[in-house]
Amino acid sequence: MSNATITVLPGDGVGPEVTAQALDVLRAVEEKYGHTFTVHRRRVGLDAITAEGVAISDRTFDICAASDAILFGAIGSLPGGHTGGGPRPEQALFRLRKEFGFFANLRPVRPPEALHGASSLKPEYLKGADLVFVRELSAGLYYGRLETVPGKPSEIRRTPGATEAVDTLLYTEAEIERVVRAAFDIAVGRTGKVTSVDKANVLSSSVLWREVVERVAGDYPAVTYEHMLVDACAMRLIRTPADFDVIVTENLFGDILTDEASMLTGSIGMLPSASLGTRRTAGGTFGLYEPIHGSAPDIAGQEKANPLGAILSAALLLRHSLGLEREAAAVEKAVDTVIADGHRTADLEEPGRTPVGTAEMGRHVVEALRHP
Ligand SMILES: NC(=O)c1ccc[n+]([C@@H]2O[C@H](COP(=O)([O-])OP(=O)(O)OC[C@H]3O[C@@H](n4cnc5c(N)ncnc54)[C@H](O)[C@@H]3O)[C@@H](O)[C@H]2O)c1
Repeated sequence: MSNATITVLPGDGVGPEVTAQALDVLRAVEEKYGHTFTVHRRRVGLDAITAEGVAISDRTFDICAASDAILFGAIGSLPGGHTGGGPRPEQALFRLRKEFGFFANLRPVRPPEALHGASSLKPEYLKGADLVFVRELSAGLYYGRLETVPGKPSEIRRTPGATEAVDTLLYTEAEIERVVRAAFDIAVGRTGKVTSVDKANVLSSSVLWREVVERVAGDYPAVTYEHMLVDACAMRLIRTPADFDVIVTENLFGDILTDEASMLTGSIGMLPSASLGTRRTAGGTFGLYEPIHGSAPDIAGQEKANPLGAILSAALLLRHSLGLEREAAAVEKAVDTVIADGHRTADLEEPGRTPVGTAEMGRHVVEALRHP
């Protein structure tokens, strides 16, 4: 039996709609398996700016810090909002990621067989596809800043004769090692294969990346691994996605490849994510869990949002922060069951058929969990 504290940050737009379903699923897990989850619900994003004047208050931040995990919905401005100064919704996520040191972003891509027809790939290419990305989230090209870190310039230089721009892709050995270890740890619990993606034929940072992978791999004799150039990986992801198990890569490559891979499932509403740091909890690692989509203002308040990405994020929370693998697998199985039973929200429904609403989809998952 687990006693855990979870902070729920529903946010804006469809965020509260999908997190409500994920929370119902966590309540059903609590009931079925005899756990106790203490839930703190707090404002974030535009919702917090409107009520509290900041995207995330210090009080909310402290409550998150004292929790085992954060379940996050989505944040976003209203169309046409926040063009000037003042607080912006996304500042909340940046603060959470930075101050909690979330360096590993996990994004599982597991298109259920019944959804293969919804993908932009031919169904036969998706057979057996079940992979997880581990993207480095806290360093690399996106973190070059001359003004804060000398030697890591990111700037446009204008002189009378010419204009040039520079960005810096810098990784320390330690930054590479911790994310590579996270990937190998995950591979141990899966089929045991890591694909490390880099551009070692061109980039020094990738040469170091390979060296670190070679060294870390020595500690995981049960895990097989390979190195793959990022351009080859982009091609193979849509050619033979079933060849992959765990893919670990640096920040920029991961940003691009995970968006490419998200299309294997047919809808952005299906995909969960986890962002993990180093702080240990009683059952695992402190983390932030969220569907990969945004606040979707175009469908908010209409019962059209697919809650499965949020529900699958709750499954990741159970697995990685609470150490409840059996429960996580049960939630994932319940999602597979409702999909196999033909329930579809509007994003996945075939033309001419009536989709189920957000809350109804959530109820189907709870039902499938209670009566597998
Ligand atoms: N992590 C986050 O909170 C996050 C991520 C991305 C974007 N955003 C913010 O969200 C706002 C809207 O951004 P956007 O429109 O570019 O991206 P979005 O992900 O909100 O929406 C993109 C498209 O996907 C659809 N969609 C999104 N979630 C869905 C779901 N659960 N079910 C069905 N369809 C879904 C939307 O209707 C829209 O057509 C912006 O303010 C953006 O900054 C936040």
